[in-house]
Order: sequence, then structure tokens, then C-alpha cells
Amino acid sequence: MVDDAKLHEFMGQILSDLGGAASVALVRIGDALGLYKTLHERGPMTVAEFAAASGVNQRYLREWLSHQAASNYLSYDPTTQKFALPSEQAMVFAIEDSPVYMMGAFDLMTWITESKDQIQAVFLTGDGVPWSDHTSCFFCAVARFFRPGYHNNLVSNWLPALDGVVGKLERGAKVADVGCGHGWSTVMMAEAFPKSQFIGYDFHASSIEHATAHARTHGVTANTRFEVATAKGYPEKDLDLVAFFDCLHDMGDPAGAAAHVHQSLKPDGSWMIIEPMAGDRLEDNLNPVGRIYYAGSTMGCVPTSLSQEVGAALGAQAGEARLREVITAGGFRNVRRAIETPFNMVLEATQ
Ligand SMILES: C[S@@+](CC[C@H](N)C(=O)[O-])C[C@H]1O[C@@H](n2cnc3c(N)ncnc32)[C@H](O)[C@@H]1O
Repeated sequence: MVDDAKLHEFMGQILSDLGGAASVALVRIGDALGLYKTLHERGPMTVAEFAAASGVNQRYLREWLSHQAASNYLSYDPTTQKFALPSEQAMVFAIEDSPVYMMGAFDLMTWITESKDQIQAVFLTGDGVPWSDHTSCFFCAVARFFRPGYHNNLVSNWLPALDGVVGKLERGAKVADVGCGHGWSTVMMAEAFPKSQFIGYDFHASSIEHATAHARTHGVTANTRFEVATAKGYPEKDLDLVAFFDCLHDMGDPAGAAAHVHQSLKPDGSWMIIEPMAGDRLEDNLNPVGRIYYAGSTMGCVPTSLSQEVGAALGAQAGEARLREVITAGGFRNVRRAIETPFNMVLEATQ
């Protein structure tokens, strides 16, 4: 028997989900044309005022604004016929340094949609998909998605939560950022701790090129360099700190990577592992954050790991217990959760 009330409630959810999915392209148009930033800077505007301010065709703009107001992304005042970007929405759509800036997530949703055929094919074969084979500007989207979390937490909260690490960084330490991608995390640490040396490693050559360009733009080339290397093969030794930002679960052989980190650290060195927030059981992760991470994991993290040696495929929602297993398999005796946010957990492993 169908329960009409439950069906009604579920259809409400599906309408909301479809509305969100349909919004992805429109939000990205608003981002690409600078519409959110213009509205944020100029304040409430009518369609005609906004068209003049943004240089966008008025008819298209009216339709876009109507969609945005129906989505609760913008507000609309029928008396003045003006549209506005409320302060809370501005934090999500316009302010790049805000902790809840989400434009990278909208970029990632496009990558998920565009990856459908590629990933559907490996559902049948069990093959992996190499990181470098992903469609769209996946790598830029990943970097853009994670940057606000790092900007708002890394130097202010995460590094201070580690045992004695900030003191070493202030005096001058040697740090490797492994799986650094476009290198935002490396550059942020290098800016904050000019007496320390930072090396960013990633096996994706094009990401290393982007990271090198970021280091130049941010003026940190004196204490930062980037190199193409795998997590099991990077050459540097006697490191004070090794950091893995949202990448251990992507690796084919995370226990092998853990063993390599172990031999690369000084005896009193620390390994900081940033991983997506997750509980240990599936039922702990059946929530909005888990929903998005499982989608990204199906389309990106699992295929990437399966394309590498061992193919452990931990998945983005591995949970602390499973992560501890691979970390201790690499020789680390002490593992603790140093700090967490709604999106990330920060583990510290020491010899
Ligand atoms: C989700 S991205 C995170 C990138 C970056 N740390 C960040 O937080 O923006 C995962 C990164 O791990 C890298 N990666 C995956 N497997 C690797 C391996 N075995 N060795 C080195 N890098 C690897 C990928 O190239 C990618 O840049």
C-alpha cells in the first residue's frame, strides 16, 4: 500500500533535488559572467539597472533572475521590483574567502554529469579511470572546492592542533605536501611560515604546472617548489611534517604510501592527514554531506584508486577506523584525531 503522505513528502524532496540539479548550469553562468559579484558590490537592482551594470542581455537576465529568486538564491522585492543578494547567499556565491563559498562544488557537479558515460563503462568492467583521464576542468574544480576550507582552517586551526608543529614551522622546518594538486595548501603554508621550506608533490604533471604558477603569483617561490612524484616515490627525507590533503583515500596503495611517509620523516616528525568527514559505518554517513561525498567518490575517488597499483579503493567516506588501519600498516604507532570541521577530519600520525 502506498502511503500518500510519504509519497507527497518524497515528491517534495525529488522536486527540490531536480531544482538543484537544474540550477547548476545557471549558477555557473552567474559565476562566469560575474553576476553574483556585481549584485553583491552594487546592492539591490531592477532588471534594467542590473543589465546596464553587468552588460548582459536584459531578456536573458530577467529569466535568470526569476530562476534565482525562485531558488532562494536571490531575494526579490515586488514593491521596488529589485533583486538582491542577501548576505548569507553572498557568502556562498560571491565571497571567495568565505568558509562556505560553494562555487567549486557547482563546478564539480558539472564534472559529475559530464563523467557519466566514462564511469558507467567501468561499472561493467571494474577497471579504474586514471586521475588524468577525467573530463572537464576536474582538477580546477577540486582545487576551487577545497580552497575555502583550507583558507579558513589550515593555518588558524589545523596546524595549531598538531603536537608542537607550529613552533617548528616558525623556527624553520622542512615540509612535504603530497598529492598537492594545484597547491593551494602548500602556498598557504609557505606564506604563513617564510622560514620553512615546502615541497609539493603530485603525480599529475598538469596540476604541478598550475601549482608552480600559483607559487609565482603568491610570491613564495623562495621557500616553495613543486615536483612530479608519486606518494610512494617522492625523494625528500628528514622531513618535519608531511601533509596529505584530501588525497590518501584516492591512492591505489594508501598503506604503501603510509610506509613511504614513515621513512621520509625525522624520528619526531608528524604526518597530517586531512580526509573527508565520515563515520565508520554506512548508516553514520546517510546525510547531506555523505550524499555528496559518496557521489564524488563513485565518480572520482574509487575509479582513481582502482586505476593504480593495489587498488585499495578506500572511498571518500572511508571513516577513521579504516584510515587508521592503513596508517598503522605503514609503521605509525600513534594516530589521533587532532581536530575536525563539518567537512573534514584532521588526523595526526607520529612514529
Ligand atoms: C582530491 S585531489 C586533492 C588535491 C589537493 N591536495 C587539494 O586538496 O586540493 C587528490 C590528489 O591526489 C593526487 N594523487 C592521487 N593518487 C596519487 C598518488 N598515488 N601519488 C601522488 N599523487 C596522487 C591526484 O593527482 C590529486 O591531485
